[in-house]
Amino acid sequence: MSPESALSAPDPDLFDKIVNLSKRRGFVFQSAEIYGGFRSTYDYGPLGVLLLRNVKDAWWRSMVQLRHDVVGLDASILTPPQVWQASGHLANFSDPLVDCTNCNARHRLDKLDDPDTCPTCGTSGSFTEARDFNLMFKTQAGPVADTAADVFLRPETAQGMFINFANVLNTSRKKPPFGIAQIGKSFRNEITPGNFVFRTREFEQMEMEFFVPPADSQRWYEYWCQTRMDWYLDLGMDPAAIRLREHDAEELAHYSTGTADVEYLFPWGWDELEGIANRGDYDLTQHANASGEKLDYFDQANNERYTPHVIEPAAGATRTAMAFLMAAYDEETVNDDTRTVLRLDPRLAPYKVAVLPLSKKDTLTPTAHEIFDIVKGRWMADYDETQSIGKRYARQDEVGTPFCVTVDFDTLDDRSVTVRERDSRQQDRVAIDRLDGYLAERLA
Ligand code: GAP
Repeated sequence: MSPESALSAPDPDLFDKIVNLSKRRGFVFQSAEIYGGFRSTYDYGPLGVLLLRNVKDAWWRSMVQLRHDVVGLDASILTPPQVWQASGHLANFSDPLVDCTNCNARHRLDKLDDPDTCPTCGTSGSFTEARDFNLMFKTQAGPVADTAADVFLRPETAQGMFINFANVLNTSRKKPPFGIAQIGKSFRNEITPGNFVFRTREFEQMEMEFFVPPADSQRWYEYWCQTRMDWYLDLGMDPAAIRLREHDAEELAHYSTGTADVEYLFPWGWDELEGIANRGDYDLTQHANASGEKLDYFDQANNERYTPHVIEPAAGATRTAMAFLMAAYDEETVNDDTRTVLRLDPRLAPYKVAVLPLSKKDTLTPTAHEIFDIVKGRWMADYDETQSIGKRYARQDEVGTPFCVTVDFDTLDDRSVTVRERDSRQQDRVAIDRLDGYLAERLA
């Protein structure tokens, strides 16, 4: 089968394999599992936390560290209602909800294949009138439970950037075009969470608001669409499994002159990883009007004052981590043996190196510890001395570790170790005092 046709029909079992691997190897656990599990909420285990952190680090590196025109922010999650009043979320951040009068199941009307038939019980004509259901989680600040104490858990990180526009402008000496980037948790009371960590009520976003002179907004919109696509490709996504889909006129928000989704070919079909939107001056104008503060920029060179337009690349960290897991998953048959290998880019791999003493014998332990000490300061490394070396290689392949370093009895004489590369399974004998340089060349 050509790669094209393989991709148009993704492995129907891939989803189950990823869910299974995630649990078995400690990437993702069902939250509160010992109490029967808290639906659609997940905990990231020892390997998942590393993968997720690597996805976020790769994003931060490309969006903040390697640029002179983007700065970071970490705004609060608890937010007063005025913010959501001005942003439009209190009025509009809702999904149309219908109840089935036969089986009491709740569904999102806009996600139903047939808007008249309940997919849970198959009854037709059993839905109530659609009601708008606001997706924000509301809670109270302080001990008095009245409406004056209402606060919301943010449903997106974006508003933190808009309401800090003037703070950042005044303190960072940036001027348009410049951006504010943020990674953090967001919360949405999704009616139909599902597909594992794809749609959850608590998730992480990686968003950047890029403020530009109005006349330049289309050029910057196209620039960010391309730059964000390149990020996924650079980290190893197959070009045939990722695409940019422009929204048509009906899909566009009223203030947006252009929005495109980065979509990945999940086992259930194409679905969104990230939205890139040209939001015009909507957000800054809304907050300026509601707060009475000036949220604009005086361009001294041209002696003009304007409200910058905003280009927003908004990605999901948790969703993207799962897409990278799916993209990396491979089963390979070698000499009648099938191995599972996660062909993750080394920047995303939870462990970069595993140190494996050939046997648990005391004679090898001090040298194996010496090797672990060499690598651990620079790379996240695992140390594993249980079971046969073949089983240990298989375990590291399955979680995507790019290099295994084996300490054997010859090591004691020749001060060299065997380094095995994950994808090719090729082995090199490397002197211990060259190991650091050898790995650095290959791990970048
Ligand atoms: N500020 C714009 C904004 O929040 P969005 O398309 O609603 O735009 C951006 O969200 C990204 O956040 C999505 O592309 C997706 O990757 C992620 N995301 C949104 N809702 C999510 C959920 N319930 N679970 C996991 N990720 C989600």
